[in-house]
Amino acid sequence: MSDELKRGLEGVLVAESGLSHVDGEVGKLVYRGYDIDDLAHEATYEEVLYLLWNGELPTRTELDAFTAELDAEHDVHDDVLETVTQLADAGERPMAALRTATSMLSAYDPETDADAEDREAALNKGRRITAKMPTVLAAFERARQGNAPVDPDPDLSHAANFLYMLTGTEPDAVSEETFDMALTLHADHGLNASTFAAMVIGSTMADVYSGVVGGIGALSGPLHGGANQDVMEVLHEVDDSAKDPVQWITDARDAGRRIPGFGHRVYKVKDPRAHILEEKLRDLSESADDTKWLEYTTAIEEYLSEDEGLAEKGIAPNVDFFSGSVYDHLGIPMDLYTPIFAVSRAGGWIAHMLEYQEDNRLIRPRARYTGATDAEFVPIDER
Ligand code: CMC
Repeated sequence: MSDELKRGLEGVLVAESGLSHVDGEVGKLVYRGYDIDDLAHEATYEEVLYLLWNGELPTRTELDAFTAELDAEHDVHDDVLETVTQLADAGERPMAALRTATSMLSAYDPETDADAEDREAALNKGRRITAKMPTVLAAFERARQGNAPVDPDPDLSHAANFLYMLTGTEPDAVSEETFDMALTLHADHGLNASTFAAMVIGSTMADVYSGVVGGIGALSGPLHGGANQDVMEVLHEVDDSAKDPVQWITDARDAGRRIPGFGHRVYKVKDPRAHILEEKLRDLSESADDTKWLEYTTAIEEYLSEDEGLAEKGIAPNVDFFSGSVYDHLGIPMDLYTPIFAVSRAGGWIAHMLEYQEDNRLIRPRARYTGATDAEFVPIDER
């Protein structure tokens, strides 16, 4: 047994996986061998889900059957919708509301008591969770605005249906394509913190709901999924300050602030997902004739890329540096960015849990004990 301490499990191999691979040195991401660039531009999120869960890209017939199964599961029980409204009324944060409501969905799952080793039931539950999370999130947002939920439309794609449930209006083709691309880009990413959290939970043979709820919790932090909202807040701060973006960023760094949307545990070059979203941001900004966020992000990126200290540490833009401004162009409120990440990443969490449980080994590392060893116990009334 090695006593070498690996803080943050950095670089530690804990499993084998055929799902996704991140090459941080060259900035390449593949899902089951397919380059993220091809999937983002050529495949739908439904195809990507099929790929992750079934191991192969679907044929047209397979995809139609899979999509029909997913579409049949978008509705959520009225009790869950009522809870979602109560959470909105209580001022709950969207990510926490999504976590609570996703957990509650299990009470209405027809296979909630299925044996943990029943793979088909686990996959069915995964499909229900993935289909219902967007419904829950859209209903929460509408409740916050004092609006009734919009029923899902099974004739729409996964991406279009979410935007429709959010606004009550069918999105145009560009919004649908953009949102679908964002879902694909966030669907999986190796053993990131939330996927590992879901996997640890799965390794106890707990069910898919528990893993997804744990994943949402892990994703909510600012070092992981929460960074997309932080980036947008920074862009607003820059705007409100009326400073030049470069001056703002210089002052922020002098004040010891970390720049959200930069840096990654694995990537030492610009994240390939950031390249794709940047291109999307450019298209959206130019067609809307509103290039403010594009100008700010470009100025900040150019300035930081000239910093040799950061370059030496491999600090480059990650996916979150561009996703917020893309969502802003779609009219999505800032505090939904991280829950949208969860809605997409649920597909990856479920895939990893199922894959790991096929050849399960309880995940149970150790900590080096640094506490006292021979403390003398004193009864409570004598202390
Ligand atoms: N701005 C300025 N300096 C940074 C940043 C940043 N965003 N990120 C890392 N550094 C520096 C850090 O100060 C440290 O310098 P030094 O060695 O001199 O102390 C060095 O780079 C290494 O940092 P670290 O925290 O040890 O690196 P890590 O691998 O633990 O951190 C990270 C990865 C993502 C937590 C970190 O880069 C970060 O906090 N970034 C901002 C938050 C963010 O954008 N998160 C989204 C990640 S991508 C989406 C996702 O997977 O969820």
